[in-house]
Amino acid sequence: MKLLEIQSSVRQEGSVSRTLSNYFIQVWETAHSKIEHKKRDIGINPPAHPTELWTKANYTLTEERSPEMRAILTRSEELIEELLWADRLLLGVPMYNFSIPSTLKVYLDNVVRINRTFTFEPVTYTFQGLIRNKKALIITPSAGNFVAGTALGKMNFCDTYLQSVLNFIGINDVVVVPIPNQFMSEEIRQPEIENAQAKLMNLAAEW
Ligand SMILES: Cc1cc2nc3c(=O)[nH]c(=O)nc-3n(C[C@H](O)[C@H](O)[C@H](O)COP(=O)(O)O)c2cc1C
Repeated sequence: MKLLEIQSSVRQEGSVSRTLSNYFIQVWETAHSKIEHKKRDIGINPPAHPTELWTKANYTLTEERSPEMRAILTRSEELIEELLWADRLLLGVPMYNFSIPSTLKVYLDNVVRINRTFTFEPVTYTFQGLIRNKKALIITPSAGNFVAGTALGKMNFCDTYLQSVLNFIGINDVVVVPIPNQFMSEEIRQPEIENAQAKLMNLAAEW
């Protein structure tokens, strides 16, 4: 089983998403044999934003691309190949201003590409995801509580958005483990961590 871990917190020290991801990977690895694990640290080393040349290259047929066009798509191609390689995706995703970290958005801009990770059929106006047979797990801490059904739930454009994008490229089996209230007192914060650990422990055996 091949695991691609994608981390997007800018923090190393005290990062809840990284700590809980490590916890999950440890439990998951003991429950499975023949594990391959790659880590893509978007929080520390994000890919470049798309540029005008990048965009032109993206919409030019592969065989018609100039050497400059091919060069500018190199990183994007690597990231897509890595995504195709994986059976499982683990995403550590802190909520930043009600959404995903901007570095993760840049990553998505690099991998959500027509005829690479999705297709568009103009006659029927339908989109089709090309990233098949994968499962994703999103571990998403936040200072407050933006879980669906709570007072601030409608302001959650973080895991809701990410789920939509993953679905769009064909990844439909997506589990979200939120860890809310991380800026609250220790009595409130710590049980949220333990609750998430329990969910991750249960998931590890079957994922
Ligand atoms: C730039 C920035 C924006 C943030 N915006 C929000 C927010 O909109 N809502 C929220 O509940 N927490 C917000 N937080 C808090 C983080 O979600 C929280 O500290 C989380 O634990 C960070 O993940 P990490 O511990 O893995 O680094 C923000 C933090 C940063 C650095």
